[in-house]
Amino acid sequence: MSLPKRYLITSALPYANGLKHVGHLAGAYIPADIYARYLRAQKRDVVFVCGSDEHGTAIPIQATKEGTTPRAIIDKYHAAMKQDFEDLSMSFDIYHRTSEPIHHETAQEFFTYLNDRGELEIKETEQYFDEEANSFLADRYIKGTCPNCGSDRAFGDQCETCGRTLSPDELINPVSTLSGKTPVKKKTSHWYLPLGKHEQFLREWILEQHKDDWRPTVIGQCKSWIDGGLQSRAVTRDLDWGIKVPVAGADGKMLYVWFDAPIGYVSATKQWALDNKKEWEPYWYDKDTKLVHFIGKDNIVFHCIIFPLMLKLHGNILPENVPANEFLNLEGDKMSTSRNWKLDMRDYINDFVKQENGGTQCVDMLRYYLTQIAPETKDSEFMWKGFQDAVNSELVSIFGNFVNRTWVLMHKLCGGKVPRLHEELLDDTDRGLVEDIRLARKKIEGLLEEYKFREALFEVIDLSRKGNQYMQKKEPWIVAKQLATNPDAQKSIDNSLHLCLQLTANLAILINPFLPNTARKMLHMMKVVEKMLDWENAGKMNLLSVGYVLREPQLLFRKIEDTEIAAQIEKLKSGLTKMEEPKKEEVKPEVPAKAEIQFDDFAKIDLKIGTILTAEKVEKADKLLKLSIDLGTETRTIVSGIALHFAPEEIVGKQVTVVTNLAPRKMRGIESNGMILMAEDKAGKLHFVQPGSMIDAGSSVS
Ligand code: MF3
Ligand code: ZN
Repeated sequence: MSLPKRYLITSALPYANGLKHVGHLAGAYIPADIYARYLRAQKRDVVFVCGSDEHGTAIPIQATKEGTTPRAIIDKYHAAMKQDFEDLSMSFDIYHRTSEPIHHETAQEFFTYLNDRGELEIKETEQYFDEEANSFLADRYIKGTCPNCGSDRAFGDQCETCGRTLSPDELINPVSTLSGKTPVKKKTSHWYLPLGKHEQFLREWILEQHKDDWRPTVIGQCKSWIDGGLQSRAVTRDLDWGIKVPVAGADGKMLYVWFDAPIGYVSATKQWALDNKKEWEPYWYDKDTKLVHFIGKDNIVFHCIIFPLMLKLHGNILPENVPANEFLNLEGDKMSTSRNWKLDMRDYINDFVKQENGGTQCVDMLRYYLTQIAPETKDSEFMWKGFQDAVNSELVSIFGNFVNRTWVLMHKLCGGKVPRLHEELLDDTDRGLVEDIRLARKKIEGLLEEYKFREALFEVIDLSRKGNQYMQKKEPWIVAKQLATNPDAQKSIDNSLHLCLQLTANLAILINPFLPNTARKMLHMMKVVEKMLDWENAGKMNLLSVGYVLREPQLLFRKIEDTEIAAQIEKLKSGLTKMEEPKKEEVKPEVPAKAEIQFDDFAKIDLKIGTILTAEKVEKADKLLKLSIDLGTETRTIVSGIALHFAPEEIVGKQVTVVTNLAPRKMRGIESNGMILMAEDKAGKLHFVQPGSMIDAGSSVS
């Protein structure tokens, strides 16, 4: 089989309605990044695209929640997600967004092309309409009772309790979430993609042609969908947020988000081509292009059935594979944004990567663990203890330890240079190691080509384990004791360290797609250029030249302490929001009374009235404001977690009550000297505790 001429790799475009968690990262992003990096190291022609999905009802819903506009929401979360991906070393060639004009045009052209060729049907149906809000209701805007489990937390698209996919008509007692009223049915017409017409093509292409090379879980979902009967799917909606249907008279109609979003892969490729003075067409039209979509399992139907059909009707190439991942659970429970049971990428970045002992090693530590537990064939579990074990007993104790030992011994016994190889003294153990390296490359390559990233990573670590075993057998530090008596002692030391050094160079190449920062750190120690990481160098035993002076060893990974793990578990549990959905007007439970204290306990607290002089947002911490507060005789810096409640400009000049004798605390690198008192009302809104009228700053409170 000849190699494809070029590759187009895509990762699912995340909705710009909130931060993404590590489950997303493990599902659609890290595997794609590994694959893209591997192909680049193979010097193949690769474009790796992603971007924010900025349409669909998810966006206006979030805007309502945050009391702002859809535009503000997409701008905020697009920037945040882009940053998080960058912080975790994702190597997209472009991170685009679907609000760009080039995307709107591309999606509209797609629609027009299909419509003009009669590939779409127009159908009139009755849909729920909210008379008070004067608007058709998107599935998500209708609430009711689930016909399956009887829960009242069911929406027009899905039941939140049992997870069953629903259509609005199935809901018992439907209610509009816009007005709280019962919606009425009203006629409306929409464009539909007739899937049924193409059943034979879909059956052959998926269930015959790809039955052996697509993952069984993917084939399984497609089969049950096709067997369940292929209905026509509406590709337009009555909405006011999205891409306009490019047909005269179709006012108020938008393309359905799942019609436009995957076309985002095409528009991202176009933008990449513009930015890099390349042609985009071959990536979407030339049969010699291998298109691979990386997604989570909830996106299978769209990427395996609907979008491919759109591509076919539009004259484009079809995906070669859609390696979908299952879900990642967290500490024994499903990850969930509404229950706040999750680990956001941002939280990991703040708690590990951005800490003093953090940095890119922490990026690679997360990439390692998420690959090691990747839910490739079934759901898997993120456990903090598992993370700690993976880092401490594999990265630190096996891989890191091998590299470090090699470096330390080379400096001690070989003068910090690559020793020469004495061929005449090579034994079976030496030859075995060389063979292991050659075999490892082959195995890893094969596994990566089949999207088996977990196993491929295991093979890399296993090779470093073999390095340790080799070292243990050769014991150069023991041989060193015979230097005075045994004329071959130095030669034996030279041979084992020469081979261990070449193995280290090979490990850098092999680990590079998975842990790119680690590979670069190793390059630095070896004083070699990036080019050494070319995949064709893997298996070679002359990557480091004899006599070459190498740097001092650097530790590749730090240990994860028990306290860090405990803190994360504590944080997770304390952040858990209750399963009962808090209703907007719901009365909050009374704050439980605290235990009785003595007057002396209270008297220990020094309270003063202060005036806020300045307030500013703290970088990369969306909850924190940095305040300077006038306390009469001094000005204090206080960091306060109120940024979600107050804009900095609105609180300057306000008076507040300050606890002035609280021990200083560092938050995001800023020392906070004190705390301001806040009162929380029943609706959860915060208020400053302040005197009835302006008084002198520094007045004491008792
Ligand atoms: N935004 C969707 C999600 O998060 C994924 C869209 S993938 C695309 O589930 F192909 F449509 F872009
Ligand atoms: Zn249900």
